[in-house]
Amino acid sequence: MTAMNAAEPILKLNDIRKTFGGITAIENFSLDIFPGEIVALVGDNGAGKSTLIKIISGVYTPTSGTITIEGETVAMSNATMARAHGIEVVYQDLALADQQTVYMNMFLGREPVNSFGLLDRRKMIAETEQLVKELDVRIPSAYATIRDLSGGQRQGVAIARATHWASKLILLDEPTAALGVAETAKVEEIVQSLKQRNIGVLIISHSLDQVFKLSDRICVLRRGRQIGVRETAKTDKNEIIAMITGLQHH
Ligand SMILES: Nc1ncnc2c1ncn2[C@@H]1O[C@H](COP(=O)(O)OP(=O)(O)OP(=O)(O)O)[C@@H](O)[C@H]1O
Ligand SMILES: [Mg+2]
Repeated sequence: MTAMNAAEPILKLNDIRKTFGGITAIENFSLDIFPGEIVALVGDNGAGKSTLIKIISGVYTPTSGTITIEGETVAMSNATMARAHGIEVVYQDLALADQQTVYMNMFLGREPVNSFGLLDRRKMIAETEQLVKELDVRIPSAYATIRDLSGGQRQGVAIARATHWASKLILLDEPTAALGVAETAKVEEIVQSLKQRNIGVLIISHSLDQVFKLSDRICVLRRGRQIGVRETAKTDKNEIIAMITGLQHH
């Protein structure tokens, strides 16, 4: 790597726009992320944060605008292509998996069926109740199957996988939303350690404490519009809250 490469952004988003039918989810969005930099993406519910992450990770194709990775403009049509570019993602949905019924989570991918070929829910529920009793002590183990883990534990596995495989950029969509205090601290430590590997991080969080603790820059979205980007050291919570809500504090 030359000195020039080190100063080149890992990711360059230029004038990204995304519409779903008549809804504009993202408009005129531009952002550069540099190696070893942590950028926080904040905004209220429905602002377009997850949509933006899915655009970067190839899940959605932008309606217009360009994505440039280390100087190369790319057209990604699926998440596999993003992974090939060294981009790993921890999706928000993963944190929400524990809001599905426990028994469906427990049997994800290996649901028992009855003689009619229908899901054997009675069996799943009975076995889950049994397991819940047995899993009173929640100690994660390499031998545990994912469906035996809590939402928080599953999220931990996804974060570990993403941080292990990411070579350039990691996108975290509310990675600590389902985690306890100690687990959150651990994830924050891991995110900070990515700097040493020169990996860029884009993290979505509703916790401004976390945003101010971790990020180098903060990018604010409101109803799909990019309100502004600030250096974390040169702003404060009041300014960011005003940007998120659109309400000025005088
Ligand atoms: N696949 C889709 N089809 C239609 N509309 C969508 C789709 N995905 C997102 N949207 C819309 O785009 C907007 C932005 O949604 P998005 O999930 O990106 O918000 P968000 O900032 O991540 O919110 P939250 O903080 O609640 O997770 C919302 O109005 C949402 O309804
Ligand atoms: Mg979201």
